[in-house]
Amino acid sequence: MADRVLVFDTTLRDGEQSPGVRLDMEQKLRIGRALVELGVDIIEAGFPISSPGDFDAVQTLARELTGVTICGLTRAREKDIEVAAEALAPAERRRIHTGLGVSDNHLQHKLKMSREQALEVGVNAVRHCRQFTDDIEYFMEDSGRAEPDYVYQVVEAVIAAGATTINVPDTTGYTYPAEYRELIKGIIENVPNSDKAVFSCHCHNDLGMATANTLAGVLGGARQVEVTINGIGERAGNTALEEVVTALHIRADKFGCETGVVLQRMLAISRLVSEETGMLVQRNKAVVGANAYAHSSGIHQDGVLKERSTYEIIDPTLVGAEKSEIILTARSGRHGLKHRLMQMGFSFPEERFEQIYGHFVQLADRKTEVFDEDLRELVTL
Ligand code: KIV
Ligand code: ZN
Repeated sequence: MADRVLVFDTTLRDGEQSPGVRLDMEQKLRIGRALVELGVDIIEAGFPISSPGDFDAVQTLARELTGVTICGLTRAREKDIEVAAEALAPAERRRIHTGLGVSDNHLQHKLKMSREQALEVGVNAVRHCRQFTDDIEYFMEDSGRAEPDYVYQVVEAVIAAGATTINVPDTTGYTYPAEYRELIKGIIENVPNSDKAVFSCHCHNDLGMATANTLAGVLGGARQVEVTINGIGERAGNTALEEVVTALHIRADKFGCETGVVLQRMLAISRLVSEETGMLVQRNKAVVGANAYAHSSGIHQDGVLKERSTYEIIDPTLVGAEKSEIILTARSGRHGLKHRLMQMGFSFPEERFEQIYGHFVQLADRKTEVFDEDLRELVTL
């Protein structure tokens, strides 16, 4: 039996923290509904105390969305927790996500607290959350740069206080996969009450390793992943939902885990989030980029036309894309051109085809891509 990995989507909270992005209530509702249809387990809908708009968004999503846990972020402060609890009150299932930093860097420069003080503040925050819900997630900001022994101490204390999910954020995207895996594994092995909580990966992409780190965390024993659609988020972004979920699916042989995500809905939600946020998806983006299933070189086209799996490990229909695409460029060969002409209803004797191929190569050298309308002209020459 495959282990279940919970998908915690934070597109509407950490994702919305992307510079230049601001979503209004209607947009948040559209994305929230699409996330429910996608099958995520938890939606982090916002940071209720941060603004009246965020409060309203969390409250509205808590009222409107069913079949999913709605989560609100707080600092480890009583007032934050009370405001979040109020916003979350209408939810069918609610989670409060509280916590504070654990690295010496954050303790010294940002929080200006000793380790002991921060531990006490965190424990008190968890205790306060218990008045409002049993579903409490504790984040240890900047875990990636923290001293593991202190992290173990914090985890043990907040679980004893009532935290049920422990978020281990690599807030600055500093770690590499083997290191992040060891961090999660080390916590699970060294904390005596670790069996009482689910461990969660929350990785940022500053060094381009967010997806790899998250997957490494799953190998280390984490059973929740914190992700955003298209990987949007602060600075270089968060971990992309579509990448992690597809990797867990395609490499089930290695991970032995499954999620509740309906993979066929991923392309549609990727496009929706891109439209609503105005953040374009790079063409070569894994899983949902416009080029993800496009083949332009002759050698690859020849392989894919004979057998798709030669150059494609993901069947495009798996993620809701129509089919693989053969793009005609200067690097395309005869096989690709013949295939496209056939799709357009043309078939020529060999000699005539060679003539057309000659014209095609000349045109392709002048153009980035040769389109169907170009071919229609070419066959009349
Ligand atoms: O990156 C981070 O540490 C966070 C926390 C607030 C969970 O987003
Ligand atoms: Zn984050």
